[in-house]
Amino acid sequence: MTEQDFIPKSYNSTLENGSVKWASPSNIALVKYWGKKKDQIPENPSISFTLSDCKTITEITFTKKESADFSFDIYFEGEKNEAFKPKIQTFFERIEIYMPFLKDYHFKIETSNTFPHSSGIASSASGMSAIALCLMSIEQSLSLVTERSRSDMEESQSYFNQKASFLARLGSGSACRSIEGELVVWGKNESIEASSDLYGVKFEGEVHSNFKNYQDTILLVDKGEKQVSSTVGHQLMYGHPFAKERFSQAHDNLAKLKTILASGDLNEFVKIVESEALTLHAMMMTSIPYFILMKPNTLEIINKIWAYRQKTDSKVCFTLDAGANVHVLYPENEKESILEFIKNELVSYCQNGHYICDQIGLGANQI
Ligand code: PMV
Repeated sequence: MTEQDFIPKSYNSTLENGSVKWASPSNIALVKYWGKKKDQIPENPSISFTLSDCKTITEITFTKKESADFSFDIYFEGEKNEAFKPKIQTFFERIEIYMPFLKDYHFKIETSNTFPHSSGIASSASGMSAIALCLMSIEQSLSLVTERSRSDMEESQSYFNQKASFLARLGSGSACRSIEGELVVWGKNESIEASSDLYGVKFEGEVHSNFKNYQDTILLVDKGEKQVSSTVGHQLMYGHPFAKERFSQAHDNLAKLKTILASGDLNEFVKIVESEALTLHAMMMTSIPYFILMKPNTLEIINKIWAYRQKTDSKVCFTLDAGANVHVLYPENEKESILEFIKNELVSYCQNGHYICDQIGLGANQI
């Protein structure tokens, strides 16, 4: 697929109004995307677990209007929200060529998250993918796009998911990994044939039962605003002295992870996942300007996890986003003992003792 394949020629149906609603999950990267080219084309491939319960629920109500400019209102958790408007405006401008009906309607976008607001959990992946999916459902109702996409839409879900992911990517890179589950690859990599820089694809390789219902408990160390936005963060990789090595390391780690996912070797899984998290932070510590996004409690938690692993034969490990919160990952058969460990030894490092229990999920669904 190329960008051109996502441009519809015309719609044959007219709709006066309607509404669509989707719930779309967040995702947590195992091999991290950090560094991008124009239009959110990633510098390196990434793979993520789709989450199950951390979701954004978005309803879009649309009403026909004179085609002139984009027209939309956003309501976040029931209240009109002006702060989100510029981001959506930019998103609409970017995707207009692929969604030519956008100026023909006024959109009321009502959105809310299942996770607490200002928990420090990035909602851009779940939020942008939910909007992309709603727009795809509207396009599907207007249907009968090009010959090619009409048959694709009717015959399979795959074009729908691909284009939803393609659009979500233009909203926020990692959002393209939130359409499907349980594992999604984004970015061209030799070891994964269907992989593409343009959209995320469901990981179709073999996955060992050790990864079934894999758990992710998110420890909320710092619920404040992100110190560095991901836009600024990605830019730090331009001219970064270690960028080239990092991008090629991500390719290698993805290929290794593919083998690990098949074999179920959790010791090797832990090594790749933790190394990826620390490398992401190392990139930020060694850029100009430089940032330390971990907090003292992030390090306390990491050390506790390492000590726990040493004294038990647990396979618990951590990963990090571009912030201080810690995702604690562990197999389902350790659920009871790790939750006990978290309550006894880690909760005291969380802001107000807050943490969120989630697990690997199947992707977005229409409501
Ligand atoms: O999608 P963005 O532009 O917010 O970037 C997210 C990057 C990381 O979360 C740090 C890593 C990843 O692959 O999700």
